[in-house]
Amino acid sequence: MFYDPKIAYNDLPLLPPEADIETKQLLKLSIKANTALTKLNEAIKSLPNPAVLINTLPLQEAKASSEIENIVTTSDELFKASLDDAKNNDPAVKETLRYRQALRVGSDMLEKYPITTKMACKLCSTIKDTDMNIRKIPGTQIANTVTGEVIYTPPEGESVIRDKLSNWEKFINENIEVEPLIRLAVMHYQFEAIHPFLDGNGRTGRLVNVLFLIQEGILEYPVLYLSKYIIENKAKYYSLLKGVTANSEWEGWITYILEGLCEVSNWTVGIIKEVKELMSDFEKQIKD
Ligand SMILES: Nc1ncnc2c1ncn2[C@@H]1O[C@H](COP(=O)(O)OP(=O)(O)OP(=O)(O)O)[C@@H](O)[C@H]1O
Ligand SMILES: [Mg+2]
Repeated sequence: MFYDPKIAYNDLPLLPPEADIETKQLLKLSIKANTALTKLNEAIKSLPNPAVLINTLPLQEAKASSEIENIVTTSDELFKASLDDAKNNDPAVKETLRYRQALRVGSDMLEKYPITTKMACKLCSTIKDTDMNIRKIPGTQIANTVTGEVIYTPPEGESVIRDKLSNWEKFINENIEVEPLIRLAVMHYQFEAIHPFLDGNGRTGRLVNVLFLIQEGILEYPVLYLSKYIIENKAKYYSLLKGVTANSEWEGWITYILEGLCEVSNWTVGIIKEVKELMSDFEKQIKD
């Protein structure tokens, strides 16, 4: 079937995909990513005060995720503002802090409910600071910001979107036979392809990724900084999403996400190591 990016993709297939998403290669890579994430989780728990990272890393994640949407803030501005939310008037800073707020809202909700469409609406509303609901009217398209060329037109019609979301939700919570990190990659594509909201779909989807790792018990804290990887490899991110839609190229997409999970986990473990070294240096200085 020929795929036309200008026509609403109501034919978006339901999950699980027909393609083989658990090839030997992908399973090997997912073992690597799982190991890296386990090390990250252990490293955080080994800190005398994990709160240090739990408060700062989500802020970095918030900053990176918002940069994809061209909301640029500096870490300095953010840290200052995060200590005193009310006083800051910079819209970029506010927007970024709302992403972190949404991360908290999501972590709290997860203690009572699994990831659902309703949770996605709540996250998107927190990010956008206004009531966001499933798109009711047609006209949403993803276009190249420079050339204006339409890259993708998501499904239209509220009931179509809701049906696809309910399938998405079931895939996350019920298709537990699919390797969790591969399930993450697949559900992330699907969420972006459904594109349920008028705006904020990228940020909401990236938040769901972090929450999913907590739901699966892979991480205990929302400290995965995957948006850093996505922003550093954004052109690839866009082209691989397109590859799944136009040519069912699942393997490339899943590989990209699994490699990202490895890279970001290893990077974060490095930061934790540095923090620990600084702490012990400081302790030594005080003793001296
Ligand atoms: N071809 C595509 N098919 C499906 N989804 C896509 C495609 N290209 C990009 N996307 C997704 O759309 C998101 C942008 O949508 P939207 O503007 O609603 O989200 P945002 O959070 O406001 O923006 P951003 O993701 O840029 O921060 C991208 O982050 C990406 O996840
Ligand atoms: Mg946007």
